Amino acid sequence: MSRNTENLVVPFFKPCLGRREIAAVKRVMRSGWLTTGPESLTFEEEFAAFLNSRGRGGQWAAAVNSATAGLHLALEALGVGAGDRVAVPSLTFTATAAAVRYLGAQPVFIDSLPGSGNMDPEQLYRVRGSLKALIPVHLAGHPCDIRAIREAAGPAVPIIEDAAHAFPSYTEEGMAGTLGDVGVYSFYATKTITTGEGGMITGRDPDILKRIHRMRLHGIDRTVWNRYTDRAAPRSWEYDIADLGFKYNMTDVAAAIGRVQLSRADSLYAMRREQAAAYTSAWNGVEGLELPEDVCGHAWHLYIVKTSSREQRDGLADWLHHEGICCSVHFIPLHRMSYWRKNYNLLPENFPVADSLADRILSIPLWPGMKKQQQQRVIAALKEYFQ
Ligand SMILES: Cc1ncc(COP(=O)(O)O)c(C=O)c1O
Repeated sequence: MSRNTENLVVPFFKPCLGRREIAAVKRVMRSGWLTTGPESLTFEEEFAAFLNSRGRGGQWAAAVNSATAGLHLALEALGVGAGDRVAVPSLTFTATAAAVRYLGAQPVFIDSLPGSGNMDPEQLYRVRGSLKALIPVHLAGHPCDIRAIREAAGPAVPIIEDAAHAFPSYTEEGMAGTLGDVGVYSFYATKTITTGEGGMITGRDPDILKRIHRMRLHGIDRTVWNRYTDRAAPRSWEYDIADLGFKYNMTDVAAAIGRVQLSRADSLYAMRREQAAAYTSAWNGVEGLELPEDVCGHAWHLYIVKTSSREQRDGLADWLHHEGICCSVHFIPLHRMSYWRKNYNLLPENFPVADSLADRILSIPLWPGMKKQQQQRVIAALKEYFQ
Protein backbone atom coordinates (compact mmCIF):
# COMPACT_ATOMS: atom_id res chain seq x y z
CA MET A 1 0.00 0.00 0.00
CA SER A 2 1.27 3.48 -0.64
CA ARG A 3 0.09 6.94 0.18
CA ASN A 4 -0.77 8.65 -3.07
CA THR A 5 -3.57 11.17 -2.57
CA GLU A 6 -4.27 13.75 0.11
CA ASN A 7 -7.87 12.59 0.59
CA LEU A 8 -6.64 9.20 1.72
CA VAL A 9 -5.09 10.71 4.85
CA VAL A 10 -6.81 9.31 7.91
CA PRO A 11 -6.99 11.90 10.71
CA PHE A 12 -6.73 10.82 14.32
CA PHE A 13 -10.14 12.22 15.19
CA LYS A 14 -12.87 14.48 13.85
CA PRO A 15 -15.75 15.87 15.92
CA CYS A 16 -19.19 14.68 14.79
CA LEU A 17 -21.10 17.93 14.37
CA GLY A 18 -24.04 18.40 12.06
CA ARG A 19 -26.94 20.63 11.13
CA ARG A 20 -28.58 20.33 14.53
CA GLU A 21 -25.51 21.65 16.38
CA ILE A 22 -25.23 24.53 13.89
CA ALA A 23 -28.94 25.36 14.31
CA ALA A 24 -28.56 25.30 18.09
CA VAL A 25 -25.66 27.78 17.97
CA LYS A 26 -27.65 30.06 15.66
CA ARG A 27 -30.60 29.93 18.04
CA VAL A 28 -28.43 31.09 20.94
CA MET A 29 -26.76 33.82 18.88
CA ARG A 30 -30.16 35.16 17.86
CA SER A 31 -31.46 34.99 21.43
CA GLY A 32 -29.18 37.78 22.64
CA TRP A 33 -27.97 35.75 25.65
CA LEU A 34 -24.57 34.17 25.07
CA THR A 35 -23.19 33.41 28.50
CA THR A 36 -24.51 31.07 31.23
CA GLY A 37 -28.29 31.11 31.02
CA PRO A 38 -31.26 29.00 29.94
CA GLU A 39 -29.27 26.68 27.64
CA SER A 40 -26.73 25.89 30.35
CA LEU A 41 -29.45 25.27 32.91
CA THR A 42 -31.31 23.00 30.53
CA PHE A 43 -28.09 21.19 29.58
CA GLU A 44 -27.47 20.50 33.26
CA GLU A 45 -31.00 19.19 33.74
CA GLU A 46 -30.79 17.01 30.65
CA PHE A 47 -27.35 15.67 31.59
CA ALA A 48 -28.54 14.74 35.10
CA ALA A 49 -31.70 13.17 33.60
CA PHE A 50 -29.51 11.14 31.21
CA LEU A 51 -27.50 9.71 34.12
CA ASN A 52 -30.54 9.20 36.32
CA SER A 53 -32.55 7.40 33.66
CA ARG A 54 -29.69 4.92 33.22
CA GLY A 55 -28.46 4.57 36.80
CA ARG A 56 -29.59 4.53 40.39
CA GLY A 57 -30.72 8.18 40.29
CA GLY A 58 -30.21 11.18 42.53
CA GLN A 59 -27.48 12.81 40.45
CA TRP A 60 -27.20 16.54 39.92
CA ALA A 61 -25.05 18.10 37.18
CA ALA A 62 -23.14 21.39 37.10
CA ALA A 63 -21.78 22.71 33.79
CA VAL A 64 -18.31 24.26 33.68
CA ASN A 65 -15.94 25.51 30.98
CA SER A 66 -13.58 22.49 31.15
CA ALA A 67 -13.02 19.25 33.01
CA THR A 68 -9.87 20.83 34.46
CA ALA A 69 -12.09 23.48 36.06
CA GLY A 70 -14.46 20.70 37.14
CA LEU A 71 -11.69 18.78 38.92
CA HIS A 72 -10.51 21.96 40.64
CA LEU A 73 -14.03 22.84 41.81
CA ALA A 74 -14.77 19.28 42.94
CA LEU A 75 -11.61 19.10 45.04
CA GLU A 76 -12.30 22.52 46.51
CA ALA A 77 -15.88 21.60 47.37
CA LEU A 78 -14.63 18.45 49.12
CA GLY A 79 -12.46 20.63 51.33
CA VAL A 80 -9.08 19.71 49.83
CA GLY A 81 -6.54 22.37 50.75
CA ALA A 82 -2.86 23.15 51.27
CA GLY A 83 -0.77 20.14 52.25
CA ASP A 84 -3.53 17.56 51.75
CA ARG A 85 -2.55 14.42 49.85
CA VAL A 86 -4.60 13.34 46.83
CA ALA A 87 -3.88 10.13 44.90
CA VAL A 88 -3.77 10.38 41.10
CA PRO A 89 -2.46 7.93 38.49
CA SER A 90 0.84 8.77 36.83
CA LEU A 91 -0.58 7.62 33.49
CA THR A 92 -2.96 10.49 32.83
CA PHE A 93 -3.20 13.95 31.35
CA THR A 94 -1.59 16.66 33.45
CA ALA A 95 -4.98 18.23 34.33
CA THR A 96 -5.74 15.42 36.81
CA ALA A 97 -2.72 16.30 38.96
CA ALA A 98 -2.65 20.03 38.19
CA ALA A 99 -6.09 20.54 39.76
CA VAL A 100 -4.64 19.14 43.01
CA ARG A 101 -1.73 21.59 42.91
CA TYR A 102 -4.05 24.57 42.24
CA LEU A 103 -5.25 24.12 45.83
CA GLY A 104 -1.75 23.74 47.27
CA ALA A 105 -2.42 20.05 47.89
CA GLN A 106 0.08 17.28 47.08
CA PRO A 107 -0.55 14.73 44.34
CA VAL A 108 0.47 11.20 45.30
CA PHE A 109 1.28 9.41 42.04
CA ILE A 110 0.10 5.81 41.66
CA ASP A 111 1.29 3.17 39.19
CA SER A 112 -0.99 1.47 36.65
CA LEU A 113 -2.56 -1.89 36.09
CA PRO A 114 -0.82 -3.57 33.13
CA GLY A 115 -4.01 -4.19 31.09
CA SER A 116 -6.07 -1.02 31.24
CA GLY A 117 -3.37 1.38 32.47
CA ASN A 118 -5.83 2.50 35.17
CA MET A 119 -4.78 3.25 38.76
CA ASP A 120 -3.66 0.04 40.50
CA PRO A 121 -5.68 -0.53 43.71
CA GLU A 122 -2.78 -2.48 45.27
CA GLN A 123 -0.44 0.48 44.86
CA LEU A 124 -3.14 2.72 46.24
CA TYR A 125 -3.39 0.48 49.30
CA ARG A 126 0.24 1.29 50.12
CA VAL A 127 -0.55 5.00 50.65
CA ARG A 128 -3.86 4.38 52.39
CA GLY A 129 -4.34 6.32 55.60
CA SER A 130 -2.66 9.48 54.36
CA LEU A 131 -5.15 10.55 51.70
CA LYS A 132 -7.66 13.37 51.73
CA ALA A 133 -9.16 12.34 48.36
CA LEU A 134 -8.33 10.36 45.24
CA ILE A 135 -8.90 10.75 41.52
CA PRO A 136 -9.04 7.56 39.48
CA VAL A 137 -9.08 8.12 35.70
CA HIS A 138 -11.14 5.92 33.36
CA LEU A 139 -8.31 5.85 30.84
CA ALA A 140 -9.43 5.74 27.20
CA GLY A 141 -12.94 5.01 28.49
CA HIS A 142 -11.97 1.70 30.12
CA PRO A 143 -13.85 1.94 33.43
CA CYS A 144 -11.86 1.63 36.66
CA ASP A 145 -13.01 -0.86 39.26
CA ILE A 146 -14.25 1.80 41.67
CA ARG A 147 -15.27 -0.79 44.24
CA ALA A 148 -11.72 -2.17 44.42
CA ILE A 149 -10.33 1.37 44.54
CA ARG A 150 -12.65 2.29 47.41
CA GLU A 151 -11.70 -0.87 49.29
CA ALA A 152 -8.01 -0.10 48.82
CA ALA A 153 -8.23 3.53 49.94
CA GLY A 154 -10.75 2.98 52.72
CA PRO A 155 -14.40 4.00 52.73
CA ALA A 156 -13.81 7.45 54.23
CA VAL A 157 -11.70 8.79 51.35
CA PRO A 158 -13.86 10.63 48.80
CA ILE A 159 -13.46 9.59 45.18
CA ILE A 160 -13.56 12.07 42.33
CA GLU A 161 -13.83 10.09 39.11
CA ASP A 162 -11.96 11.71 36.25
CA ALA A 163 -14.47 10.59 33.63
CA ALA A 164 -13.06 12.88 30.92
CA HIS A 165 -12.83 9.84 28.59
CA ALA A 166 -15.84 7.91 29.78
CA PHE A 167 -19.13 9.29 28.59
CA PRO A 168 -21.18 7.21 28.31
CA SER A 169 -19.83 4.11 30.00
CA TYR A 170 -22.38 1.56 31.19
CA THR A 171 -20.70 -0.75 33.70
CA GLU A 172 -22.45 -3.44 35.74
CA GLU A 173 -22.17 -1.17 38.80
CA GLY A 174 -23.65 1.86 37.01
CA MET A 175 -22.31 4.58 34.74
CA ALA A 176 -18.67 5.63 35.10
CA GLY A 177 -18.67 9.04 36.75
CA THR A 178 -21.54 8.10 39.08
CA LEU A 179 -19.75 5.37 41.03
CA GLY A 180 -17.64 7.53 43.33
CA ASP A 181 -18.59 10.71 45.18
CA VAL A 182 -18.15 13.21 42.35
CA GLY A 183 -17.74 12.65 38.59
CA VAL A 184 -16.09 15.03 36.13
CA TYR A 185 -16.67 14.75 32.37
CA SER A 186 -14.88 16.62 29.58
CA PHE A 187 -16.43 18.06 26.43
CA TYR A 188 -13.10 19.11 24.92
CA ALA A 189 -13.03 19.07 21.11
CA THR A 190 -11.79 15.47 20.81
CA LYS A 191 -13.96 13.93 23.50
CA THR A 192 -16.89 11.52 23.01
CA ILE A 193 -19.33 14.41 23.07
CA THR A 194 -18.08 17.96 22.67
CA THR A 195 -18.90 21.60 23.25
CA GLY A 196 -15.51 22.76 21.89
CA GLU A 197 -14.35 23.36 25.46
CA GLY A 198 -16.49 22.38 28.42
CA GLY A 199 -17.14 19.95 31.21
CA MET A 200 -19.76 18.66 33.64
CA ILE A 201 -19.49 17.87 37.34
CA THR A 202 -21.95 15.37 38.76
CA GLY A 203 -22.69 14.05 42.22
CA ARG A 204 -25.38 13.41 44.80
CA ASP A 205 -24.39 15.57 47.78
CA PRO A 206 -26.43 18.82 47.68
CA ASP A 207 -23.84 20.70 49.77
CA ILE A 208 -21.14 19.99 47.20
CA LEU A 209 -23.41 21.28 44.44
CA LYS A 210 -24.12 24.44 46.43
CA ARG A 211 -20.41 25.08 46.87
CA ILE A 212 -19.68 24.44 43.18
CA HIS A 213 -22.47 26.82 42.11
CA ARG A 214 -20.92 29.58 44.16
CA MET A 215 -17.27 28.94 43.36
CA ARG A 216 -17.61 28.46 39.61
CA LEU A 217 -18.54 32.14 39.21
CA HIS A 218 -16.39 34.40 41.38
CA GLY A 219 -17.96 33.36 44.68
CA ILE A 220 -21.08 35.42 43.82
CA ASP A 221 -24.14 34.37 45.77
CA ARG A 222 -26.56 34.76 42.79
CA THR A 223 -26.25 33.31 39.29
CA VAL A 224 -25.88 35.83 36.45
CA TRP A 225 -29.08 34.56 34.80
CA ASN A 226 -30.94 34.92 38.07
CA ARG A 227 -29.58 38.44 38.61
CA TYR A 228 -30.96 39.64 35.27
CA THR A 229 -34.23 37.72 35.07
CA ASP A 230 -35.58 37.41 38.60
CA ARG A 231 -38.59 39.76 38.57
CA ALA A 232 -38.92 39.57 42.32
CA ALA A 233 -35.34 40.86 42.75
CA PRO A 234 -34.69 43.06 39.70
CA ARG A 235 -31.53 44.85 40.92
CA SER A 236 -28.82 42.86 39.19
CA TRP A 237 -26.07 44.63 41.13
CA GLU A 238 -27.36 43.50 44.48
CA TYR A 239 -25.22 40.49 45.21
CA ASP A 240 -22.50 39.51 47.61
CA ILE A 241 -19.03 38.12 46.99
CA ALA A 242 -19.17 35.41 49.59
CA ASP A 243 -15.87 33.71 48.66
CA LEU A 244 -12.83 34.00 46.42
CA GLY A 245 -14.30 32.07 43.49
CA PHE A 246 -13.19 31.26 39.95
CA LYS A 247 -14.40 32.02 36.39
CA TYR A 248 -15.40 28.53 35.36
CA ASN A 249 -18.98 28.92 34.04
CA MET A 250 -20.11 27.40 30.74
CA THR A 251 -21.44 29.68 27.96
CA ASP A 252 -24.88 29.14 26.46
CA VAL A 253 -23.26 28.76 23.03
CA ALA A 254 -21.30 25.76 24.32
CA ALA A 255 -24.31 24.38 26.20
CA ALA A 256 -26.48 24.52 23.08
CA ILE A 257 -23.94 22.36 21.22
CA GLY A 258 -23.73 20.09 24.25
CA ARG A 259 -27.48 19.53 24.37
CA VAL A 260 -27.52 18.24 20.79
CA GLN A 261 -24.42 16.13 21.38
CA LEU A 262 -26.00 14.67 24.52
CA SER A 263 -29.09 13.66 22.54
CA ARG A 264 -26.74 11.82 20.16
CA ALA A 265 -24.49 10.32 22.86
CA ASP A 266 -25.83 6.78 22.62
CA SER A 267 -25.76 6.65 18.83
CA LEU A 268 -22.21 8.07 18.74
CA TYR A 269 -21.27 5.45 21.33
CA ALA A 270 -22.81 2.65 19.25
CA MET A 271 -20.69 3.73 16.27
CA ARG A 272 -17.48 3.80 18.33
CA ARG A 273 -18.27 0.36 19.71
CA GLU A 274 -18.80 -1.01 16.23
CA GLN A 275 -15.50 0.47 15.05
CA ALA A 276 -13.63 -0.86 18.06
CA ALA A 277 -15.13 -4.31 17.43
CA ALA A 278 -14.04 -4.13 13.78
CA TYR A 279 -10.44 -3.36 14.79
CA THR A 280 -10.45 -6.13 17.37
CA SER A 281 -11.79 -8.79 15.04
CA ALA A 282 -9.41 -7.76 12.24
CA TRP A 283 -6.30 -7.74 14.44
CA ASN A 284 -7.05 -10.63 16.74
CA GLY A 285 -4.07 -12.98 16.61
CA VAL A 286 -1.58 -10.50 15.12
CA GLU A 287 1.67 -11.57 16.74
CA GLY A 288 3.37 -8.90 18.83
CA LEU A 289 0.22 -6.85 19.19
CA GLU A 290 -1.91 -6.63 22.33
CA LEU A 291 -5.44 -5.33 21.82
CA PRO A 292 -7.55 -3.39 24.34
CA GLU A 293 -9.78 -5.51 26.51
CA ASP A 294 -13.44 -5.25 25.51
CA VAL A 295 -14.73 -4.91 29.07
CA CYS A 296 -18.31 -4.07 29.98
CA GLY A 297 -18.70 -0.31 29.91
CA HIS A 298 -15.69 0.61 27.77
CA ALA A 299 -16.65 4.00 26.28
CA TRP A 300 -14.15 3.62 23.40
CA HIS A 301 -12.99 7.20 23.54
CA LEU A 302 -9.62 5.81 22.48
CA TYR A 303 -8.54 2.51 20.93
CA ILE A 304 -5.11 1.87 22.45
CA VAL A 305 -2.98 -1.02 21.20
CA LYS A 306 0.20 -2.26 22.86
CA THR A 307 3.31 -3.43 21.10
CA SER A 308 6.04 -5.56 22.65
CA SER A 309 8.77 -2.90 22.68
CA ARG A 310 9.41 0.78 22.23
CA GLU A 311 11.22 0.16 18.94
CA GLN A 312 8.22 -1.72 17.62
CA ARG A 313 5.79 1.00 18.76
CA ASP A 314 7.84 3.82 17.28
CA GLY A 315 8.28 1.82 14.10
CA LEU A 316 4.52 1.27 13.87
CA ALA A 317 3.84 4.98 14.48
CA ASP A 318 6.34 5.92 11.75
CA TRP A 319 4.85 3.39 9.34
CA LEU A 320 1.30 4.63 9.94
CA HIS A 321 2.49 8.19 9.47
CA HIS A 322 4.10 7.17 6.19
CA GLU A 323 0.78 5.64 5.17
CA GLY A 324 -1.05 8.90 5.92
CA ILE A 325 -2.60 7.62 9.14
CA CYS A 326 -2.47 9.82 12.24
CA CYS A 327 -2.03 8.26 15.66
CA SER A 328 -1.09 9.39 19.16
CA VAL A 329 0.06 8.27 22.62
CA HIS A 330 -2.20 8.58 25.68
CA PHE A 331 -0.21 9.35 27.68
CA ILE A 332 3.44 9.88 28.40
CA PRO A 333 3.06 9.47 32.18
CA LEU A 334 3.45 12.41 34.51
CA HIS A 335 6.52 10.90 36.21
CA ARG A 336 8.36 11.58 32.94
CA MET A 337 7.20 15.21 32.67
CA SER A 338 9.83 17.64 33.93
CA TYR A 339 7.54 19.73 36.16
CA TRP A 340 6.16 16.73 37.99
CA ARG A 341 9.39 14.74 37.92
CA LYS A 342 11.51 17.55 39.40
CA ASN A 343 9.03 18.80 41.98
CA TYR A 344 8.08 15.37 43.27
CA ASN A 345 11.36 13.49 42.73
CA LEU A 346 9.55 10.93 40.62
CA LEU A 347 11.63 7.99 39.45
CA PRO A 348 10.64 5.60 36.65
CA GLU A 349 11.46 2.60 38.86
CA ASN A 350 8.59 3.60 41.14
CA PHE A 351 6.16 3.32 38.21
CA PRO A 352 7.35 0.19 36.40
CA VAL A 353 3.98 -0.57 34.79
CA ALA A 354 3.10 2.94 33.61
CA ASP A 355 6.71 3.40 32.46
CA SER A 356 6.63 0.25 30.36
CA LEU A 357 3.19 1.09 28.95
CA ALA A 358 4.38 4.55 27.93
CA ASP A 359 6.86 2.94 25.56
CA ARG A 360 4.45 0.44 24.06
CA ILE A 361 1.04 2.12 23.71
CA LEU A 362 -0.35 3.69 20.57
CA SER A 363 -3.80 5.25 20.08
CA ILE A 364 -5.29 4.34 16.71
CA PRO A 365 -7.75 6.63 14.84
CA LEU A 366 -11.34 6.16 15.93
CA TRP A 367 -14.29 8.53 15.71
CA PRO A 368 -17.95 7.97 14.90
CA GLY A 369 -17.84 9.58 11.44
CA MET A 370 -14.87 7.49 10.30
CA LYS A 371 -15.63 5.91 6.95
CA LYS A 372 -15.41 2.14 6.44
CA GLN A 373 -12.81 2.75 3.74
CA GLN A 374 -10.68 4.77 6.17
CA GLN A 375 -10.91 2.08 8.81
CA GLN A 376 -10.01 -0.61 6.27
CA ARG A 377 -6.96 1.42 5.41
CA VAL A 378 -5.85 1.54 9.04
CA ILE A 379 -6.53 -2.19 9.46
CA ALA A 380 -4.50 -3.07 6.39
CA ALA A 381 -1.59 -0.74 7.24
CA LEU A 382 -1.18 -2.16 10.72
CA LYS A 383 -1.36 -5.75 9.47
CA GLU A 384 1.21 -4.96 6.84
CA TYR A 385 3.58 -3.60 9.49
CA PHE A 386 3.37 -6.74 11.59
CA GLN A 387 3.74 -9.14 8.65
C1 LIG B 1 -7.83 12.21 31.66
C2 LIG B 1 -8.14 13.65 31.46
N1 LIG B 1 -8.55 14.38 32.51
C3 LIG B 1 -8.85 15.69 32.38
C4 LIG B 1 -8.74 16.33 31.18
C5 LIG B 1 -9.04 17.78 31.09
O1 LIG B 1 -10.14 18.03 30.25
P1 LIG B 1 -10.44 19.50 29.73
O2 LIG B 1 -9.63 19.70 28.49
O3 LIG B 1 -11.92 19.50 29.47
O4 LIG B 1 -10.07 20.44 30.80
C6 LIG B 1 -8.31 15.62 30.06
C7 LIG B 1 -8.17 16.28 28.76
O5 LIG B 1 -7.77 15.75 27.78
C8 LIG B 1 -8.00 14.25 30.21
O6 LIG B 1 -7.55 13.52 29.17
